[in-house]
Amino acid sequence: MRWFSPAALGRLTAKRRTWIPAMVPWRAADDGFVTDDVIEWYARFAEGRPGVLVVEATGIRDVPSGPLLRIGDDRFVPGLTRLVDAVREASGGETLLFIQCIDFLAVRRRPPKEKFFRRYLELNDPLLATLAAQGITGDEETIRTALLAMNDEALRAVLSARDFDSYARGYRERVTDIDLPHVRELPNTLPDLFARAAVRAQRAGFHGVELHYAHAYTMASFLSALNTRGDGYGGPRESRARLPLEVFSKVRAAVGDDYCVGARFLGDDVIEGGSDLEDATYFGRAFARAGFDFLSISKGGKFEDAKQPRVGDAVYPYTGPSGHECMPTVKIDARGPFGRNVPLAATIRAAIREDGLTTPIVTAGGIASPWQAEEILERGDADFVGAARQSLCDPDWFEKTRTGRGDQVRRCFFTNYCEALDQKHKEVTCQRWDRLARPEGGAKSKDGKRFLLAPR
Ligand SMILES: Cc1cc2nc3c(=O)[nH]c(=O)nc-3n(C[C@H](O)[C@H](O)[C@H](O)COP(=O)(O)O)c2cc1C
Ligand code: SF4
Repeated sequence: MRWFSPAALGRLTAKRRTWIPAMVPWRAADDGFVTDDVIEWYARFAEGRPGVLVVEATGIRDVPSGPLLRIGDDRFVPGLTRLVDAVREASGGETLLFIQCIDFLAVRRRPPKEKFFRRYLELNDPLLATLAAQGITGDEETIRTALLAMNDEALRAVLSARDFDSYARGYRERVTDIDLPHVRELPNTLPDLFARAAVRAQRAGFHGVELHYAHAYTMASFLSALNTRGDGYGGPRESRARLPLEVFSKVRAAVGDDYCVGARFLGDDVIEGGSDLEDATYFGRAFARAGFDFLSISKGGKFEDAKQPRVGDAVYPYTGPSGHECMPTVKIDARGPFGRNVPLAATIRAAIREDGLTTPIVTAGGIASPWQAEEILERGDADFVGAARQSLCDPDWFEKTRTGRGDQVRRCFFTNYCEALDQKHKEVTCQRWDRLARPEGGAKSKDGKRFLLAPR
């Protein structure tokens, strides 16, 4: 099968075209270090010998961010080195290991109404003028009390769209907040932060890095058509691509031409006013020309259309229509979750090939059978075919398929039990693992209810 045949990735050769995209398992320490659970998680995937395994979104800054892996300081390198060693050993040296490098902006929990109107809301001139036009005037206390008494419909009419969103869903920074100095300065700070993270990845022994330009995070927000920054880093497509390209140049200069540097970005934002496939094709061509070693195409996963969180929870970017496209379930529509992103990858790949470039393209999303993968490769829609949830459900499925034991593959239900755990920041596990006999036993989650690793 083509899927089990080698393919080039920059100067590297992947032994197979099978790929496990990044998945956050919530196994890191609260201070961002690699734990034994992290190592065991990736070693378990490595036993299935995918061509490429991508380590979860790992923060490039050295700031507290809960149990998310970090690569924002040299002190994280020894733990990451241990992780690399464990994967090499478990895969018999057959799997290429990349790490996904991420930057994200601040997202706050949805506040209680009282707190928002008493403490957080700024009573600025436009708001005071709107309220005055409705006869609401007086001292600060009177105005805040009046706002607190309004229902959501009335509040929507008087608050700016941004303030209403902060009230209803929690405050969230945008790349367009250039009145905030640290947001204005992102084009100056991010290239170095990504470059230093990539150098650490190289020192830890990873085969390459995947720059996270997808979903709800900083770099994807620069690429999005919603980015209207007027400083040359927003607006027209070429300006939106500018920072992602500058980050890449800095990373490339720091790690050298031999090191594998790829990106994951969106083939479609799937939100109103966001980037579409035409934008993504433009970005893909620009990234390929710049010399990225691979481009992994995802879809959706944005904050803009996410469901309103409960008070005290933070908005989660996989709960709205764009989020459903990112991790589609069997309930999505009549077509089901299967291979929905392939046409995006195919279009971007065809444009890059027209330019005479050979940059490998990775597709993922609802891939759950080797025949699906084989058809994608045969048609030339992608060069690597990834599977996140199917590989989570059965990390051995590549090897089972390759060695003629396809009947033993444990199939993913695509109902997103795993993703619901991710949303709650609980250790990610698969619902199917706990229903099987497990004579070997194994470590359990903190709530004691679930096994932490797939059964053998
Ligand atoms: C629990 C979980 C965590 C994820 N974490 C990441 C991540 O860190 N970075 C990323 O780019 N995608 C992440 N994803 C998305 C997957 O990489 C993949 O794109 C998506 O699940 C669709 O592919 P699938 O149908 O093969 O699962 C995550 C998915 C799941 C289920
Ligand atoms: S929990 Fe459900 S959706 Fe997630 S990997 Fe397991 S079977 Fe698939």
